[in-house]
Amino acid sequence: MRPCVFVTRKLPEAALARLGEVCDVEVGAEDPALARAALLAGVRKADGLVCLLTDRIDREVIEAGHRLKVIANVAVGYNNVDVGAAQQRGIYVTNTPGVLTDATADLTWALILAVTRRVVEADAWVRTGNFKTWDFNLFPGFSLTGRKLGIIGYGRIGRAVARRATGFGVSVLYCGRNEIAFRDDPTRATSKASHRPGTTAQLPSPINDSTRTGSLQDGLSVRRTDFYDLLEQSDIVSLHVPMAAATKHLIDAAAFGHMKPTAFLINTARGEIMDEAALVEALGQGRIAGAGLDVYEHEPQVSPALMAMNNVVLLPHIGSATRETRAAMAMLAVENAIDALSGRPPRNAV
Ligand code: DGY
Repeated sequence: MRPCVFVTRKLPEAALARLGEVCDVEVGAEDPALARAALLAGVRKADGLVCLLTDRIDREVIEAGHRLKVIANVAVGYNNVDVGAAQQRGIYVTNTPGVLTDATADLTWALILAVTRRVVEADAWVRTGNFKTWDFNLFPGFSLTGRKLGIIGYGRIGRAVARRATGFGVSVLYCGRNEIAFRDDPTRATSKASHRPGTTAQLPSPINDSTRTGSLQDGLSVRRTDFYDLLEQSDIVSLHVPMAAATKHLIDAAAFGHMKPTAFLINTARGEIMDEAALVEALGQGRIAGAGLDVYEHEPQVSPALMAMNNVVLLPHIGSATRETRAAMAMLAVENAIDALSGRPPRNAV
């Protein structure tokens, strides 16, 4: 008997056709807002689930899917899935890494350029009929050449963002999982420890040695450093960590306190990584210069205060939204589901 797969939302035809070669396929809805009841009804009779990041796959859904063998999320992030509950029931959870790296890195740079060069603000100004003459003083922005980009999270996407820095003459600082995990450990601090509540020591950091320093090209450097040093040195801070308990509100009021008043925050990862209320306050008080956001803490809600700010560029979570990338994500999710339902370990089990 062919396995049955519930696909929560309509995906590109090629991916659905591939799934249909092996499985019976039921598509939940064309509309992005699949009702909870429809989701629960869909998983009840399914051996596999292909879902999107807007589908909350919690314990209730997982338990309703008593035949489920695989939950194939069409995203690299999988914080919408209760992985622990799935694993307890022996259900694979899979994601779609790799295929969206370049699209997301490109969009990160689109936000960096848009916010530093005031692209959206200037576009709106032209559209409202204000462009009467060239003006020497019109929309002065922030030059990128010679600046430092701080990348928090140095996985596939973080590294792809770093590679693109070369072309703009921008050096890179980065920190990864260890620097984030040990961010309040004074023995690892290189930055102004006195700024950090509860810490007093300022000791050389074992991670800040020359073996961790490399170069991009044209004399531009890429240097691993600790979390606070990165915040203090960077002209642009870009977030590329997954959303998890350890990264929730990683960028909070204290973190903004470490950033330069001329610095910009870019977030193409997940909204909950930053405390959005603290961001609004930091922007409102001029503690940072601006922000470029593709994701929000309470998505799809966007704080009205952010909407009113000219120094913030707001996008509707389109980091991976190129036709090619979305097709590749859908196909990879489908291949993961087919792997699991054919008795093979899926290629992207998390
Ligand atoms: C992901 O894949 O996690 C993105 O947020 C959407 O492409």
